Amino acid sequence: MLPAHRLSHLKPSPIRILSEGASPSAIPLGLGEPTWDLPHAAQKALHETRGPCPYGPNFGLPELRDAVARFHGAHRDEVLITCGSEGGIFSLFLAFLNPGDEVLVPDPYFPAYTSLALLAEAIPVTYALDKEDRFRLKAGPLLAALETHPKVKAVVVNAPSNPTGAATSAEDLRCIAEACEARGVMLVSDEVYRDLHYGVRPPSLRDVSNYGLILSSVSKAWGGAGLRVGWIVGDPQWLGPARTVHGYAVTGAAHPAQRAALALIEDSESIFISARKEIRARWEALAAALKSHLGHDAEPPDGAFYHFIALPDSALADPMAFCLGLRDEGGVVLVPGSTFGPGGAAHARLSFAAFPHQITEGVKRMAPFWNSK
Ligand SMILES: Cc1ncc(COP(=O)(O)O)c(C=O)c1O
Repeated sequence: MLPAHRLSHLKPSPIRILSEGASPSAIPLGLGEPTWDLPHAAQKALHETRGPCPYGPNFGLPELRDAVARFHGAHRDEVLITCGSEGGIFSLFLAFLNPGDEVLVPDPYFPAYTSLALLAEAIPVTYALDKEDRFRLKAGPLLAALETHPKVKAVVVNAPSNPTGAATSAEDLRCIAEACEARGVMLVSDEVYRDLHYGVRPPSLRDVSNYGLILSSVSKAWGGAGLRVGWIVGDPQWLGPARTVHGYAVTGAAHPAQRAALALIEDSESIFISARKEIRARWEALAAALKSHLGHDAEPPDGAFYHFIALPDSALADPMAFCLGLRDEGGVVLVPGSTFGPGGAAHARLSFAAFPHQITEGVKRMAPFWNSK
């Protein structure tokens, strides 16, 4: 039997294909997930799970909703707990997009934005991030795209960004929020990397506007990707329909995982201090290796654990073939930037969430490909 038409534009993620096809001895700089331990607070909560294990309310455990609300300066009614932030994007798109609606996403983008828009039979259109300023999000190109695409029903911003680690300014976020509100367009601010920064905490949409929705999860800064707990924060009028989709799709996030997420959020301050130490150590290993093996002077990103590295000229004709060669002959996994949209085609994403010794070895293995091909 053939899959449904709505799947015809969807392919398995190249990020997964590259990582899953790698030999066990390849250095994994492909996947974007913390490699440090799940913080103790969550381990303890999981260990202490007793008694029945109920479904729980579709909106999520009230205690967890309260904790998320306090974290974002919101009210419980403004919080929907989802299976990861990806469960949030899925639910919002399915709940609000009709076939043919357009969704405005950054270029380069986190691939789930375009794939989930296509699953909702909507059409992804892009606005460019500022290549001249390390791919930071600027309001100008987004507002221009809104003008030329009157069918846009939803706008996604993501800062700090996957795949570039670049953030944005409060002023740019404010302009974007005002433009979306004026048009009645849904604005989704994906802030999963906000607390993994290298000095200055990047702004949140919530700092500058009450319009729009914030997406986040315990996957990155709280080190709990496998718990699959995320949330949407925003006006309940958006959350009700999203809850209907999420509830029918999966009922809710796993009950023990929600208890662990609650323990994580309650211990946010010390967890973030440790997580930032982890990424700082990894960044330092990467910066030193880039300098000694490739001769690159690199600045840390604004946030997250991605280094968007310019590909050598020889790779530009076929970046996927180059990354496959790097993986199979060089023994290191990187993701071609074209996976994240045309704006990333001249780059590759190096995830430095891996262990520092792997990062050092990975860059050493990259050197012959950058220096001689
Ligand atoms: C920008 C961004 N948003 C959302 C997600 C989804 O994460 P999760 O569903 O674990 O919250 C990711 C995962 O890599 C991401 O990079």
